[in-house]
Amino acid sequence: TSALPVYTLEEVTKHCSLDNGVWVTYKGEVYDITAFVAMHPGGDKILLAAGGSLEPYWALYAVHEQDHVFEILSEYKIGVLNTESIKKQESVNTLDPYSAEPTRHPALRINSLKPFNAEPPSSILSDNYITPSVIFFKRNHLPVPRVDPETYRLEIEGLPGGVVSLTLNELKSCFPKYTITATLQCAGNRRSEMNTVKQVKGLNWGIAAISNATWSGALLRDVLLHYGFGPEVAAKAQHVQFEGLDKDVTGTAYGASIPLNKAVSEDGDVLLAYEMNGEDLPPDHGYPVRVVVPGIVGARNVKWLGKIVVSEEESKSHWQQNDYKGFSPGTDWDTVDFKSAPAIQELPIQSAITHPAEGTSVDASDGEVTVKGYAWSGGGREVVRVDVSIDGGKTWHVAKLRTGDKGQQAPPPPPGKAWAWKLWEIDVPLPHRAQELEIVCKAVDSSYNMQPDTVAPIWNLRGVLSNAWHRVKVKVNE
Ligand code: HEM
Ligand code: MTE
Repeated sequence: TSALPVYTLEEVTKHCSLDNGVWVTYKGEVYDITAFVAMHPGGDKILLAAGGSLEPYWALYAVHEQDHVFEILSEYKIGVLNTESIKKQESVNTLDPYSAEPTRHPALRINSLKPFNAEPPSSILSDNYITPSVIFFKRNHLPVPRVDPETYRLEIEGLPGGVVSLTLNELKSCFPKYTITATLQCAGNRRSEMNTVKQVKGLNWGIAAISNATWSGALLRDVLLHYGFGPEVAAKAQHVQFEGLDKDVTGTAYGASIPLNKAVSEDGDVLLAYEMNGEDLPPDHGYPVRVVVPGIVGARNVKWLGKIVVSEEESKSHWQQNDYKGFSPGTDWDTVDFKSAPAIQELPIQSAITHPAEGTSVDASDGEVTVKGYAWSGGGREVVRVDVSIDGGKTWHVAKLRTGDKGQQAPPPPPGKAWAWKLWEIDVPLPHRAQELEIVCKAVDSSYNMQPDTVAPIWNLRGVLSNAWHRVKVKVNE
């Protein structure tokens, strides 16, 4: 029925560069996307599909499974493939780079399936001081790499003795095993609240892109010192870069870096972790080895760690240079200059209400409402207080803080080493004849940093660092 020209694969394949034009196919149709290449939000990667089909690439970046992407594509349609060509493409078009993903817990609220990003329901987040690994939030940028522990090697570059290559057994047996309890939080935690001010780009996280676990492994400091780190290296280098074993279609690995001071400081507690909650790391959390950088944004806690580089420079990775940075509310995608802002490292003070849930109701006859939540601050700053209001912030009550499960309070952390969150709880008397409550929480850390009261002044185009007072509205049943 279509009057569009019919092409063969051979004809499409010839259009594989900006000079000859860039053609691609999708579901048996042919598109000339030459004019779109420069406008592509994902950059040059688009050229990988030049002269061939989009399916195997879009299978890797499911961000394309959206109506607005299909609309853009439809503008560039120039024809259809002949039946024989469609058959030839079948096997490559059904390739699934995500076919070896681990099984996940059904309670997780999935934000994106491929790559896998999910958070636990907030109602169960604060039930355990130590988050069970199966419901610990999961944030992957790429397919989970399946690593063989027998052939696994951790490479270390930038030390005087040249490149070091460590086996998993060497890492476990040559260095003391050290255990810390540390909270990981994604920079995008609570991003959905920023979307209510103005749309941001990124996964629509609720309040549970944060979890707490015990991590065991070798101290990065011990490993670096063992292989020759000393004053000569410190005089030149300023950063420690990490590379994951998860790679994109161009073979580029996930990467990030942290300041060298944090890595080698006696108080840094940076771990090359091989256990989470007393067991081997699960595949989603970086098996067999990940970096745990306590007090620092999740993005630098590189999973499936393949390489460490002690360097004069920050990681060149997209996620260090062009993502995970904060900007003014006035900066938009036309004006943003990623070079102008520092990469996020320590995160600001944070707290949120996990109970009761938005839109639920409490009974007036109970006389009080039980409010629960979590609080945490970056950089090892300890949460010293959480204030709770049930009248939108007019009057305040101080919540009880908890550092363990069922009455097992942990001893207070040494100053500057509060890596783990605190859970909090309070019973607030219901005001006479209240019909609706606006429950609010805000935390204070040991530097007396506090959360901003509203989202708008901290709104940023990428939706990171969202830490305004958390507000939950509930009805009161007569
Ligand atoms: C992002 C369109 C081909 C890799 C995007 C987005 C659009 C888009 C609209 C932004 C989506 C959003 O954030 O809502 C297209 C079109 C394509 C195409 C129309 C073909 C005609 C490709 C190919 C690759 C690719 C072949 C990889 C080989 C990416 C990546 C991003 C992206 C990595 C995410 C960038 C980020 O982190 O924000 N693309 N794309 N795209 N695209 Fe494509
Ligand atoms: N490491 C690798 N290799 N690949 C990744 O995609 N995601 C990072 C970080 N480390 C990521 C990674 C981000 S953005 C976060 S928030 C944390 O891992 C999430 O850790 P989790 O999945 O164990 O909760």
